[in-house]
Amino acid sequence: MVGLQWGDEGKGKIVDLLTSRYDCIVRYNGGANAGHTVQVGTERYALHLIPSGILSPGKINIVGNGVVVDPEKLLDEVDGLRKRGVAVGSNLRISDRAHVVMPYHKEQDAALEELLERKSGKLGAGQIGTTRRGIGPAYSDKVRRSTALRMGDLLDHALLLRKLETICGLRMAELEALGANVTPLVPRELADRFAAAGEKLRPHITDTVYLVHDEIKAGRSVLFEGANACLLDIDHGTFPYVTSSNCSTLGIPAGSGVPGRMIGKVYGIMKAYSTRVGGGPFVTELLDETGERIRKRGREYGTTTGRPRRCGWLDLVAVKYSVMVCGADAIACTLLDVLSGFDELKICVGYRRADGTVTDRFIPDAERMHGFTPVYETLPGWQRELTDCTDRDDLPREAQSYLAFVEKFVGIPVELVSVGPERTQTFESNARFASMA
Ligand code: GDP
Ligand code: IMO
Ligand code: MG
Repeated sequence: MVGLQWGDEGKGKIVDLLTSRYDCIVRYNGGANAGHTVQVGTERYALHLIPSGILSPGKINIVGNGVVVDPEKLLDEVDGLRKRGVAVGSNLRISDRAHVVMPYHKEQDAALEELLERKSGKLGAGQIGTTRRGIGPAYSDKVRRSTALRMGDLLDHALLLRKLETICGLRMAELEALGANVTPLVPRELADRFAAAGEKLRPHITDTVYLVHDEIKAGRSVLFEGANACLLDIDHGTFPYVTSSNCSTLGIPAGSGVPGRMIGKVYGIMKAYSTRVGGGPFVTELLDETGERIRKRGREYGTTTGRPRRCGWLDLVAVKYSVMVCGADAIACTLLDVLSGFDELKICVGYRRADGTVTDRFIPDAERMHGFTPVYETLPGWQRELTDCTDRDDLPREAQSYLAFVEKFVGIPVELVSVGPERTQTFESNARFASMA
């Protein structure tokens, strides 16, 4: 299950819904930059590191080796869930090889963003617009190796202290070079603090690669919960305005230890329009009152940072590319209800370059997308609210045509439709909305 746009497609809601059909739910990438909202009745949960399956009893929820874990944030999340009556115990497993996000990673993240902002003066001209959750610096340390810490290291105080003694001096120098206002990093203090967090998490920390393979061998089914989304993938997204992990389905094998050939059906989650948070190319962005209307109706404010999301029309050039990269078999279309009330709706089917030529190919490179404008098809809108629809036949004819257009353009069926944040506001459409001829 993977996001086909720039994140916030409603993955949390769809995972929560699909969880009943699976035994294990696995996160394979990202960290606390993700914010997955699940609404159960009037209760709203915002999950960042813990798989959304945690809200369904009897499931095994795995934080895989490809995730970067902020242990204190994770403990806060566990506490928050327990306070609301959600059981968190042996149903939560964390890879001993997942890398640790430390406080200095968050400082580095913020310091670098601020430095770039000071230098360029505006978002999108160097500054990424990160969530400042320390994601980039933590993955940088993973790749750099000698300055990395993994969850298993938190379980051995002496080892942790030894590693931190090397890391802290170097990190101080780096932070100072970035112009950050650093409080001295004291290896022993950090070792005590994070070994204490490790002790609390000890019952959950394990070799999740064997765990997930044991589950598969025992005939149990696994749902991989993508965080962030395909167009934020470090290799395949709108570089450099991306996150630091492989958040397409291509991240599943490396981030969980499950080979690609064992993966079955891939659901791509697509919201009925487009949003993105932070900098980077966004060809269909609406900077007018239409964008504002979508933002208000869709409550498009970040789950993690509260930032207003940039909003625009549906970009099918981008979605079709993500479907190809992720090998998506079917689409779950979310937030369709937000589009009620427009006289007409636009869908982007091509990009016009600055020289006037048109392409139907996505170009995952911010520099090379510069100056692109959308080529739109215009479809009739519908006025009726969709929030009570329970079947595809219930949808206004124009909404059915909108989905049929998506299916035809992208080449895979829309199998799930979501018309509101609640579990119940979803229906399956086993039959396609349009013949694929
Ligand atoms: P995620 O990061 O992909 O899990 O998505 P977020 O949770 O960050 O953002 C999606 C938002 O849309 C959340 O506030 C959801 O409660 C909400 N949502 C999900 N599906 C629907 C839908 O079909 N209609 C409406 N109106 N809201 C939805
Ligand atoms: P979910 O799982 C939306 C964006 C950030 C920023 C860029 C890099 O909720 O869909 P980072 O902190 O990862 O270094 O930021 O990526 N970003 C997301 N945008 N939803 C997300 O996750 C995101 N995760 C990262 O806004 O532009
Ligand atoms: Mg989100």
